[in-house]
Amino acid sequence: MASIDSVLQEHRVFPPSAETIARAAISGMAAYEALCKEAETDYAGYWARLAREHLLWKKPFTQSLDESNAPFYKWFEDGTLNVSFNCLDRNLENGNADKVALIFEADDGKVTRTTYRELHSLVCKFANGLKSRGIKKGDRVIIYMPMSVEGVAAMQACARIGATHSVVFGGFSAKSVQERVVDAGATAVITADEQCRGGKNIALKAVVDEAIAMGGCEAIHSVVVYKRTGNAIGMSAGRDVWLHDLLEGQSATCEPEWVGAEHPLFLLYTSGSTGKPKGVQHSSAGYLLHAILTNKWTFDLKPEDVYWCTADIGWVTGHTYIAYGPLACGATQIVFEGVPTYPDAGRFWRVIQDQKVSVFYTAPTAIRSLIKAAETTATAHPRNYDLTSLRLLGTVGEPINPEAWMWYYEQIGGSRCPVMDTFWQTETGGHVITPLPGVTPLVPGSCTLPFPGIAAAVVDESGHDVEWGKGGFLVIKRPWPSMIRTIWGDPERYRNSYFPGDLGGKLYLAGDGAVRDAKTGYFTIMGRIDDVLNVSGHRMGTMEIESALVSCTELVAEAAVVGRPDDLTGEAICAFVVLKGPRPTGDAAKAIVKKLQDWVAKEIGPIAKPKDIRFGDNLPKTRSGKIMRRLLRSLAKGEEITQDVSTLENPAILEQLKQSV
Ligand code: PRX
Repeated sequence: MASIDSVLQEHRVFPPSAETIARAAISGMAAYEALCKEAETDYAGYWARLAREHLLWKKPFTQSLDESNAPFYKWFEDGTLNVSFNCLDRNLENGNADKVALIFEADDGKVTRTTYRELHSLVCKFANGLKSRGIKKGDRVIIYMPMSVEGVAAMQACARIGATHSVVFGGFSAKSVQERVVDAGATAVITADEQCRGGKNIALKAVVDEAIAMGGCEAIHSVVVYKRTGNAIGMSAGRDVWLHDLLEGQSATCEPEWVGAEHPLFLLYTSGSTGKPKGVQHSSAGYLLHAILTNKWTFDLKPEDVYWCTADIGWVTGHTYIAYGPLACGATQIVFEGVPTYPDAGRFWRVIQDQKVSVFYTAPTAIRSLIKAAETTATAHPRNYDLTSLRLLGTVGEPINPEAWMWYYEQIGGSRCPVMDTFWQTETGGHVITPLPGVTPLVPGSCTLPFPGIAAAVVDESGHDVEWGKGGFLVIKRPWPSMIRTIWGDPERYRNSYFPGDLGGKLYLAGDGAVRDAKTGYFTIMGRIDDVLNVSGHRMGTMEIESALVSCTELVAEAAVVGRPDDLTGEAICAFVVLKGPRPTGDAAKAIVKKLQDWVAKEIGPIAKPKDIRFGDNLPKTRSGKIMRRLLRSLAKGEEITQDVSTLENPAILEQLKQSV
């Protein structure tokens, strides 16, 4: 933990403006403290009150938290509700029917608007269509869709009939799709012919076909295909159906399937410390409650806002802050199909200007790459755009360095908009440590304080609190409504990964290092403590990439993957590879690097491509054969090796790996 102790010294503080405090749902520090106090005094009662106030129940619950089978916690268990009803029907009943729910901006700039009434009708037809294919409550449905109104509608339609969806990011490979279909035991896939990104058409349906052909997917009886580009694709008679054909003649109303509060709304696969991605299972009521609360409290969403979260629906951010939370709050939001750099790096700023976006939520990597673009291309500079509609900014996914924070605050927010550095994870369902706009004085690089009711803390190896100012493991001490319920099909992995015995078995271990400021208690996240990398805000397991590399059996004998800091992407993937043949040099080495990068892209997806690949005759190992990753990490960074190498079996290998850049 010594390295964790060396926290950035940051002295700039930005208190909330009087205007922000006045408009905020949680107004002033005293209001925040009162909520924290309420949670402390009556934990279950606090969440029960919020669940009654913010969710529409078909049958009210009588018990708030059930801890009897810890760590398999249950919230509001005997209540019933429907998530899609909470997101859509609620808005038909409260005067928002003709309000625009989704402003869709396509890759080519074409804009379409969908009102709550229209979205409700699309979702109902979609839900009826799924039912007509025999898809029902409890079935698992894989969604492999582009950013689109139909993508959001697919998720909502599953929720409406009680089917559990698992969205797979459109950049993942056929192999990744196949693994998820098999692990989830899915019976249907919803996809599109192609997706459009940065002026290019990218296959989706063909990838699904390839995935199914890999075997193990025999349970898939339906593949629903949204026609995005209209280019030719194969359709398998009986199994495949066009979405427009499925919707044809369906009723525009669909009685929601009322499900228990704990009914699994979705699974979302994410990387852990082993080669196999884990299917994080979320509930219905607890999850939706936190999605609503964080949209209302962290983003302070108001009826007049135009809200834009730039995440993809393939990630958890696109679930909580696009597909569910904002809709349940009746927001008008942007759904953006394209990429930040197409047709030029001013795209984000142009969308904000043209659509008068007031709340903008994006990732530090995007900010860093747009800073670079603004420095090199005058036309990409945000000063060319009118960004005065903005009132609040947010970031998520990785630590934001104070320089990027300041640029975001000054250049994008005009030194007027508070920046919410929201810390959370796929497993937490929504923000767990975050500033609140009308409450928290901001410090660049710190995600500040826990969301009211979240018992976040920093502890040592045995689970004891560490003093403020000292680094340790980030934990959450009490279960909260939107927490992960289990890992699909692997409850033991859930228990071992998140509630390890070393820490006493009761603390939720986030997997990040953190430190609290000695004076303010503000949290700063120091990055992952396990074998998980964060590349451009995307979680990648080193073991997953290693297994992909060694599965190239024609070439690779052994591989070890580590991360190294990268100015743009936060971390970059660095692979050390031992080939079956002789160690290549020069052009031969370059050719193999390219081959292996393409291999990993095909096995997992382009986001997992190692940036650096180095070849050695061996890897640095202890006498017992364990790879010494800390040495590889130093080599990847280009650091001098100052660590103890006396346990190393083959010290000469370090010199070879050092030179093999
Ligand atoms: O390491 C932390 C980092 O992202 C991880 C969670 O990744 P994922 O489950 O893919 O969810 C990303 C979107 C919620 C965390 O364990 N992380 C996320 N937000 C922040 C962060 N690190 C620092 N500051 C943040 N605000």
